[in-house]
Amino acid sequence: MKLDKKVAIITGGGKGIGRAIALRFASEGARVVIADIDYDSAMKISKEIGGSSLALKVDVSSKKDVENMVRTVMERFGRIDILVNNAGIQTEKPFVDLSVKEWKRVLDVNLTGTFLCSQAVAKEMIKKKNEGVIINISSIHGYIPRIKKVHYDASKAGLIMLTKETALELAKHKIRVNCIAPGIIDTPMNQELLSDVETRKKMKQRVPLKKIGEPEDVASLALFLASNESSYITGAVVPVDGGLSLKP
Ligand SMILES: NC(=O)c1ccc[n+]([C@@H]2O[C@H](COP(=O)([O-])OP(=O)(O)OC[C@H]3O[C@@H](n4cnc5c(N)ncnc54)[C@H](O)[C@@H]3O)[C@@H](O)[C@H]2O)c1
Repeated sequence: MKLDKKVAIITGGGKGIGRAIALRFASEGARVVIADIDYDSAMKISKEIGGSSLALKVDVSSKKDVENMVRTVMERFGRIDILVNNAGIQTEKPFVDLSVKEWKRVLDVNLTGTFLCSQAVAKEMIKKKNEGVIINISSIHGYIPRIKKVHYDASKAGLIMLTKETALELAKHKIRVNCIAPGIIDTPMNQELLSDVETRKKMKQRVPLKKIGEPEDVASLALFLASNESSYITGAVVPVDGGLSLKP
């Protein structure tokens, strides 16, 4: 068991990539906390995992929710070993039509949410003097631009620097911080796009490995980064994209 008795918080763990990470970590012996704004989804996964897991309703953009989450996890398990900052939202809007409200909401959840969770969890890890792991889920669009997603892509670019800065600052506390940059993954977030047969075919063709990624592809890397197998890796940004980011 690679994560025996480790306590892992997975934000946005109720669906898609977060769900796959929660299930994979639990299968490796972790006690998993599924922190999602959608409590029903979090409960469903928690029930699937069984006794050693916990479902919490958390909006990662709310400092109060995040503080409650950390307090509850500390009361229940007494420690936090792993945090996966996976919760994220995406909308599409031409740059000139993007409202401040929409810009802010996406930045608040994707970037500020990760800041709030990482800070609150790192404080506990430091207090307990336990080695810790933080994994941030960015995107290949944190470094590859496209149209109509400036708010989302700017938030994902921010996560890459947040990863590197926190990796540097927290290294002395034996807390490793790494970042995963997925390409196109088949999740509820992409349901509308990928349910169209023609679009799906076109997307597949664009990927050098000629397949759309599965949430489990991301979970495999998350497990490696959470485990001792990666004990000398910090501040890294690793794509899981079938080679998509290699293309011009
Ligand atoms: N699917 C992809 O192709 C892809 C590609 C690159 C990056 N990503 C990133 O991976 C992460 C997971 O994406 P996904 O495709 O599984 O998405 P998803 O929409 O399928 O699932 C996201 C989960 O996050 C939860 N969530 C949303 N807002 C939240 C909030 N404020 N607080 C707590 N939980 C919240 C949702 O309820 C949901 O359970 C996101 O950060 C996303 O940006 C996804």
